[in-house]
Amino acid sequence: MTDMKPGAGASKKKTVMSGIRPTGFLHLGNYFGAIRNYVKMQEEYDCFFMVADLHSLTTHPDTKELKTNVHRVLAENIACGLDPEKAALFCQSHVYEISELYLYLNMLAYTGELEKTVTFKDKIRQHPENVNAGLLTYPVLMAADILIHRAGYVPVGKDQEQHLEMARTYAKRFNHRYGEIFPEPEAFNFGENLLKIPSLDGGGKMSKSENQMATLYLADDDEMIRKKIMKAKTDAGPAELNSVKPDYIENIFQLMQLVSAQDVIEKFESDFNHCSIRYGNMKKQLAEDMVRFINPIRQKAADIMMDEKYLQEVMEKGAEKARVSSVATMKMVREASGLNYF
Ligand code: TRP
Repeated sequence: MTDMKPGAGASKKKTVMSGIRPTGFLHLGNYFGAIRNYVKMQEEYDCFFMVADLHSLTTHPDTKELKTNVHRVLAENIACGLDPEKAALFCQSHVYEISELYLYLNMLAYTGELEKTVTFKDKIRQHPENVNAGLLTYPVLMAADILIHRAGYVPVGKDQEQHLEMARTYAKRFNHRYGEIFPEPEAFNFGENLLKIPSLDGGGKMSKSENQMATLYLADDDEMIRKKIMKAKTDAGPAELNSVKPDYIENIFQLMQLVSAQDVIEKFESDFNHCSIRYGNMKKQLAEDMVRFINPIRQKAADIMMDEKYLQEVMEKGAEKARVSSVATMKMVREASGLNYF
């Protein structure tokens, strides 16, 4: 009998699955927008956190740096508090069943709908010279990542919601055609915890690829952190009591909320309202508080990066955990779809 409740598995806990591509360095937005929540979730749910190395091949065919990037993304996540003893931390390419399920799901995915995917259209615009079929079927592979664990919840940002919707579509199509195997995965909603971390140049949010001087990376050294914060846009200060803050000033206050003490923030709020704020001092304070926050994560990640043996063990243990649900799901999939004739 198939239990259709999301996350039904050996344990009673609900199953959560998410992936992160090993491209670029993790930044403050990744921490406060995602990783910090993963760290909480690992206490309550059966968590699968996966390094999407196969996905990275769709846009980064040169693999010279892949090993370092995979190690770094693991090391940084662990340094932020993800615990390989609690969650399954693994690499996509180590669990072959994902690729097998991807093949089955490809027969249920129509090229017309894949071509309409927003991320696909963005990518062909950015790289017209490399419009490969893997890029087109990127959402199918992502659906396989999720469905292979029959996961109920997927913590993703806005930019991945369409992909999650497609995963639900493929789950429904499979169930309709071959029998009820897959729960439909839902977006995991962090509620108030869903924070957007503003970039330091006053526009948009921190990002892996855009304007590196406006983004604080977990690997930035103390001097770099200070330099980036001191360059953040400010002005001469408000001319009237209790003014509305311009966006770029609001952003600096917002960053302070993440790492500074409440009384410090209140002092600068009051200075702003009384037109006596000195943005130079405020940025110095923010820089020191940010250094105090990022420095231990950076050092811990660097130590883990040096310990290849430990990283190997983490990946092996994670893949072993991920294979349990993957092997079980593929057995059901093969049987349900009629490939059970020997
Ligand atoms: N596509 C996601 C991103 O670019 C990464 C990812 C791969 C993912 N597989 C996943 C996210 C499965 C959630 C679930 O951020």
